[in-house]
Amino acid sequence: MNDVLINTKQLSLDILSDDLEMKDVEKVSTSHVSTKRESIGIMQQNIFLMPKIATLPKVDDNHSDLLGDKIFDFVLGDCLTILMSMPKDSVDCIITSPPYWAMRRYDNADAIGEVGNEKSSAEYIEKLAKIFNEAKRVLKSTGSLWLNLGDKYENKEMLGLPWRVAISLMDNGWIMRNDVIWSQLKGTQSCKDRLRDSYEHFFHFVKSKKYYYDADAIRVKPIKKPTITENSTISATGVSGVKYKKQIAESDLSPEEKNNAIKALEETLEEVRSGLINDFRMSIRGYQRAWHSNDSAVSGRARELEQRGFYIMKMGAKGALPTDIWNIVTEDTWRTDSHCAVYPEELLRIPILATCPKNGIILDPFSGTGTTVAAALKLGRKGMGIDLSQEYINVSRQRISKIIQ
Ligand SMILES: C[S@@+](CC[C@H](N)C(=O)[O-])C[C@H]1O[C@@H](n2cnc3c(N)ncnc32)[C@H](O)[C@@H]1O
Repeated sequence: MNDVLINTKQLSLDILSDDLEMKDVEKVSTSHVSTKRESIGIMQQNIFLMPKIATLPKVDDNHSDLLGDKIFDFVLGDCLTILMSMPKDSVDCIITSPPYWAMRRYDNADAIGEVGNEKSSAEYIEKLAKIFNEAKRVLKSTGSLWLNLGDKYENKEMLGLPWRVAISLMDNGWIMRNDVIWSQLKGTQSCKDRLRDSYEHFFHFVKSKKYYYDADAIRVKPIKKPTITENSTISATGVSGVKYKKQIAESDLSPEEKNNAIKALEETLEEVRSGLINDFRMSIRGYQRAWHSNDSAVSGRARELEQRGFYIMKMGAKGALPTDIWNIVTEDTWRTDSHCAVYPEELLRIPILATCPKNGIILDPFSGTGTTVAAALKLGRKGMGIDLSQEYINVSRQRISKIIQ
């Protein structure tokens, strides 16, 4: 069983990850993680909780006139029609989860434009491609699209729908930046001749190569810090440089290469000492191989090792970016009142912080119970949702009224 980290002292929503101290965090097994707990996101060695309603950041209203002086809105109708009526370059970010193909019927199932009931998967893909083509027009050139899609089996065959949709978007000019795997930590069905499904795709697309991305807002802070004393500097994972100095001395490096290697090592230790970097690894010709490939024809690192005799990899003190596998339990709270496949607010934390500027507008063209708009408001952005279902728009408005009261 995988171990995950959760905060066992405070299971309420009233703290931000930055407020957590590692002493408050204990290792527990996944079997103790109840899906009933609202909005607990479990990411690799990190815990992300959404801010409590009372701590909502203030939103100033001069960002865009799409929403006028409102900080959120929900529009009832077919998203393709509504997108076509929206001004171009008017939203900062789009985050959404369209209905799966042939999985469930929503209350407006026969409404014109309803996605998910198409006769064939090819028609479903075509319809989504058309919708996201229109969404591209509405998105600013610096904007991002985050698209959550689940797959489907037909006649025992996995259809690969998320990828088929993703490729059709790429064919229409979208640039894919990440295929994030949302691991839900529990399987869904009990099939006897294949494994249980436990993940969905969450694709990150951009419209142009120059797009808004605040990497510092989502860095995972290193848990361990270097140990600095008057006489020694030891990196976060215990590297003091002593072993490297010995290897340099005993290596077949030329005297000049040896001098350069020692100088670079001393400078790196100084960077650890001054708090600029947290950790490092050195590769010395004849001792360590280049990380990905030893072939200097394909690897710059291998070339450096061959030509200079060494290279140093540094890990910054600001922390590393999260990986593209996110372990987040599904959220049940809003699903109990409606039959909509709700995604957890925690899933949206990285997309919002990294790809939408503060006070920017986030659009969800399949807004369901309003999760995207709720998460947007909690993180100081504005939100707009579109849905075909009056029932879900009502649920969403009710949900938001609890946030902004
Ligand atoms: C998977 S749910 C979205 C759930 C949402 N992410 C949440 O957390 O609540 C998909 C939604 O798309 C809506 N929908 C289906 N076809 C639509 C269309 N053409 N335009 C707008 N909404 C549509 C459905 O009514 C449903 O609420």
